[in-house]
Amino acid sequence: MEKNGEANNMFRWKENPATLLPYTPPEWAAHLNGSPTVRIKLFQPMTPIHLWKIPGIPEDVELYIKRDDMTGAAMTGNKVRKLEFLLAEAVEMKCNAVITCGAVLSNHCRTTAVAAGILGLEAHLLLRSKMKNPEDIVPRGNVLLNRLVGAQQYLIPNEANLDTEIVPRMQILAKQLSEIRKIKSYLIPVGKPSTIAVQGYLWAWQELLDQGIQERFDDIIVTIATGENAAGLAIGNYLTGSKLKIHAYAVCYDAKTFHSHINSTLDILGLGDTIQSEDIINIIEGYQGDGYGLSTPHEIDFIRKVATTTGILLDPTYTGKAASGLSHDLTYDRSKFKGNRILFIHTGGIFGLYDGRMTNILSETRDDQSQMRVWMDLDEDPLPASPEKSTPNGHQFQPNPITLNHHFNGGINIGLT
Ligand SMILES: Cc1ncc(COP(=O)(O)O)c(C=O)c1O
Repeated sequence: MEKNGEANNMFRWKENPATLLPYTPPEWAAHLNGSPTVRIKLFQPMTPIHLWKIPGIPEDVELYIKRDDMTGAAMTGNKVRKLEFLLAEAVEMKCNAVITCGAVLSNHCRTTAVAAGILGLEAHLLLRSKMKNPEDIVPRGNVLLNRLVGAQQYLIPNEANLDTEIVPRMQILAKQLSEIRKIKSYLIPVGKPSTIAVQGYLWAWQELLDQGIQERFDDIIVTIATGENAAGLAIGNYLTGSKLKIHAYAVCYDAKTFHSHINSTLDILGLGDTIQSEDIINIIEGYQGDGYGLSTPHEIDFIRKVATTTGILLDPTYTGKAASGLSHDLTYDRSKFKGNRILFIHTGGIFGLYDGRMTNILSETRDDQSQMRVWMDLDEDPLPASPEKSTPNGHQFQPNPITLNHHFNGGINIGLT
């Protein structure tokens, strides 16, 4: 076990979760600026890859899914990969609190809050919202989990600028925590290129190589919002000469903005003179739907169909939009893909399913296959009398009955991550 390096993955009874472990980057990434030297163990690596037969894609496409939604339970998704490095730095610096920011329904903030709870750190979350009154924010989805793990949440303006309004707030909070409570804070200002944050998916690239994807796939699909995942994968693909094509489905911003973010990341890693974002990643626009954090009935229906046919739960803000775009492109715009062996990275976010959007739509959908039936009387038959109306395996779809245009929280733009 020890010889194969598997001992690292094993639960060790005596280990404090905040134990710092030495980290050596993969050889191909060793020359990059700012590589971390320590990590802590927060998630289950080697998330599974399996065949994923979503409805409506051409027969000759081999679609697979990498289950990064299985990195953990409350820490499901992509964000925990970078937190292994960021929070290791916090522990190494002997901080007692972590301050970060995101949208009110941020997956990053929720994952940070849960991880901080495990490590015995306080979590302070600056949450962007159009709402000014905390009473109006129903504790559900990620906000519910933040509350459960005792994170301190602060509502800040939705349009707050990172450099001029959010980072200064973080600094003021850190100063007050230090002066009043003698607590040292670690700051994670999301939205700026960071050498450490991109490490999560650089290391994930090594995991993908270890899983044999190099020969097995032609194209990799990921969702892009800040660009950290996509940058990690695209840089890994480039530095290892893997020659897969990396596509990132945008859920906010435009391709130009993303390329400029990723080019800044390449600069700080020391690769700016060698490669450009445009050369290593294909940003796909056009599937933002009604906007960031908003769901159209079509998107919600797609999530439902995928769940019904494959048992995989996509989230409404990120992976649902990306997978729906992918399904469309595989049918109508195949030329953008290098081949027909496609790997979709599921980056988690499923607590977005519990934030109200899905509930609203399903409760107004009358002929939903999975609607609950009344069966109080043992003598009654559980199935409808007419055979053509019954769909025992739930795999036959009726036309989408949804006509209402649902916006979560009345069309609020909930900002990033
Ligand atoms: C579930 C989920 N998928 C994808 C993304 C996009 O990742 P990135 O911000 O690294 O572009 C995010 C966060 O922004 C996310 O929460």
